[in-house]
Amino acid sequence: MRKNIVAGNWKMNKNLQEGVTFAKELEAALAGKTLKCDVIIGTPFIHLASVASSTKLGVAAQNCADKASGAYTGEVSAAMVASTGAKYVILGHSERRTYYGETDAILKEKTLLALANGLSPIFCIGETKEEREKNVHFDVVKKQTVDALFGLSAEDFSKIVIAYEPVWAIGTGLTATSAQAQEMHAFIRKTIADKYGKEVADNTSILYGGSANGGNAKELFGCPDIDGGLIGGASLDVEKFIPVIEGF
Ligand code: 13P
Repeated sequence: MRKNIVAGNWKMNKNLQEGVTFAKELEAALAGKTLKCDVIIGTPFIHLASVASSTKLGVAAQNCADKASGAYTGEVSAAMVASTGAKYVILGHSERRTYYGETDAILKEKTLLALANGLSPIFCIGETKEEREKNVHFDVVKKQTVDALFGLSAEDFSKIVIAYEPVWAIGTGLTATSAQAQEMHAFIRKTIADKYGKEVADNTSILYGGSANGGNAKELFGCPDIDGGLIGGASLDVEKFIPVIEGF
């Protein structure tokens, strides 16, 4: 059966000391609670090794290079990420697509390298406000999924976590309604089933991201096809993150 997951994405926030302190505080605050989900924190690259060695929480990078190694100044490879102890990598976040020009073709390479190095990609897809208004949101999300991921074998695809993040809901305080999110998650699961079969689709965790917080997590996570969240702002404070985790 698919896993429930709550993953934080710190984006470009927290220095190293703040990050390590946060991870230890979160782990201590969760100790003794019965959790109904896996908890992952997505940190900047330089935090990965320290956070991974100081907690048992899952750790994710927020990106990796689309090349294996070599003369690519400033880049960080999937092998380097894996060597820190991180087990996940967030790929295809809309901020990477928009500000750093990441295309489906680039994301396909990143995904292959992540998998080859034993990392599970948390792969982000989602439409803009204009695309939803034009009623092409299902087409957009399908194309992102097909173009970057549907070259994978079923075995490799089963290591992918999907994060549906409507761009209009990210950092805006606007959350998709649980009905809008459920509708899209069910569509994504059907798209996966049509390609890889019902068993693979039923075992794929599909997370919701976009202004999810302690106030709306329970309703969102109560939907049949929503298996958790990818959380930005509300993952930056332990007191705000725990109610999201407890949405399960
Ligand atoms: P917010 O939760 O701040 O809207 O960010 C969502 C997100 O982009 C997670 O990757």
